[in-house]
Amino acid sequence: MKILTQLIFVNIIISQNQLIIPPALNGNNFELTIQESEMEFFPGIFTQTMGVSFPILGPTLIMEKGEDVNITFDNQLQDTTTIHWHGMHVPAEFDGGPHTPIPPNTTWNPHFTVKDHASTMWYHPHLMHKTNEHVQMGIAGFVIVKDEEEALLDLPREYGVDDIPLVFQTKTLDENFQIVTNMDSSGLDTFLLTNGTRDAFVEVPAQIVRFRLLNGSSERSFNIGLDNNANFYVIGNDGGLLNEPIELTELLISPGERYEILIDLNNMVGETVSIMNIGSHIPNGIYGAEIVGGMGGSSIPYYADNPLNGSDFILLELVVTNTTSTPITSIPETLVVVNQWNPEDVDETRAILFSPVVMGPNGALNGPFQFNGQPFDINVVNYEIPLNNVEIWELTNQSQIAHPFHIHDVQFNILEINGEIPPVHMQGWKDVVLVPPQNGTAKFITKFEDYSDTSVPYMYHCHILTHEETGMMGQFIVVDNSPPAGIDVENTEPLNFKLNSVYPNPFNPVTTTTYSVERKETMSLQIIDITGRLVTTLVNGQSEPGIYSIEWNATHDPSGVYFVVLRSENQIQTQKIILMK
Ligand code: C2O
Ligand code: CU
Ligand code: CU
Repeated sequence: MKILTQLIFVNIIISQNQLIIPPALNGNNFELTIQESEMEFFPGIFTQTMGVSFPILGPTLIMEKGEDVNITFDNQLQDTTTIHWHGMHVPAEFDGGPHTPIPPNTTWNPHFTVKDHASTMWYHPHLMHKTNEHVQMGIAGFVIVKDEEEALLDLPREYGVDDIPLVFQTKTLDENFQIVTNMDSSGLDTFLLTNGTRDAFVEVPAQIVRFRLLNGSSERSFNIGLDNNANFYVIGNDGGLLNEPIELTELLISPGERYEILIDLNNMVGETVSIMNIGSHIPNGIYGAEIVGGMGGSSIPYYADNPLNGSDFILLELVVTNTTSTPITSIPETLVVVNQWNPEDVDETRAILFSPVVMGPNGALNGPFQFNGQPFDINVVNYEIPLNNVEIWELTNQSQIAHPFHIHDVQFNILEINGEIPPVHMQGWKDVVLVPPQNGTAKFITKFEDYSDTSVPYMYHCHILTHEETGMMGQFIVVDNSPPAGIDVENTEPLNFKLNSVYPNPFNPVTTTTYSVERKETMSLQIIDITGRLVTTLVNGQSEPGIYSIEWNATHDPSGVYFVVLRSENQIQTQKIILMK
């Protein structure tokens, strides 16, 4: 297969194509179809694509915080896929990771309560070995979350007029102008699309305009700026608004990240301003820079041949037209109050090392990149995290390329990057952090609230999709170890017995509890249901020191959540179990 190396699809003089603005859908029920299609990016040439109810990308789903939403995805691809709610805090079973496949000609119906702050989230496929392919073919869409706090601010919010979502993506094309998803050619991502539009312009009113930026590329970071070098204002990042607008002239955005910005176009009717990628200022080590790698050259295949690397080019041309009837004309002084998690409340700190090491024998730029020396294994749960744990994750990147680390389920606060407090626009709520190369570090704090599930894990991974696909991913389950209502656990003395395991869990209909007793004790082992009702007593009486294995046969009990409750006269241990019939 021949790949287009020399084409650089960015315009020099005037942009040709009107920006596609994905239609917005409101309400609580969304019915969507995942489909194959085609786009005429070049006159008379049809490029095969995939989209959600549209030829490329998908509608913007507008959701209100606190509302229950119900989404139906009808998969009309020839292929199995999944749809993940990137950034949203949803139950694991509806998170849409690799554990929730949607086979062809079937529908998937996630439903959840919207719990996020007003923010810009997105949805995209996440199937093992297919994420990169399906995203590259065009499946991705925005979710705009609204809340009461945001509604009180004087911000532009007329969708498609002064509030415009923008997803930047680069793809590889072959000589027939078809999208190449084979990962060996991913370094030739010379084809730039903004909202699925090549060479795009958009008309915007002469006032303050809000753009919701998403980097939806597989690998490339962009360094956003304006061609007139004017300042713009960052008002929000991945998971919500900031305390106040932050004035910048350049803004680095790595794969998976979002930033909301305001651009001041007051009194500019008739003028043109371009949103640029200032690639010449991207630091070495970040995909998109002129050079990635410590030894002067780059070992990413084709990287040096890609004309986009290290260069400045237009992402979108803004053609400024008349002011609307109710324009926002000033930048607000303040936004919301962000209450970050407090490091004093930390229950657990975890460390993750990104390999291979910089100069080691395997210090190549092509990986395989891994966490803690382990490739991703869908059958291994890397962490069991107690519900409501506050945790600090410390990330150390031993490799030569920067990795955008992303975690599902939660939003976090970045505490440090390379040992320093992050710039203000990176404070607040984030779900992606770009970890610098060459022993760079990042540290964040988060809390695992609301949702626990012993069977469906959440993922964490590098959002360079080719790295994710080749094993730079892990998974965790959030477990609720709290005892059911009506049981007090007061004591903190060391236990005289230990609940070792309940296996299998989930189970049907038999599960076995194994526990050890240290000294002669009066022990009881009971099963309690979710309401605290006693289901059965399996053990009750004097126990000699030793290890015990006790079965519970739940043939006659309904599916659901139960607790194994093991206690001595004054101590208790519980384990949540799930009967799935
Ligand atoms: Cu945007 Cu796990 O993904
Ligand atoms: Cu995600
Ligand atoms: Cu990576």
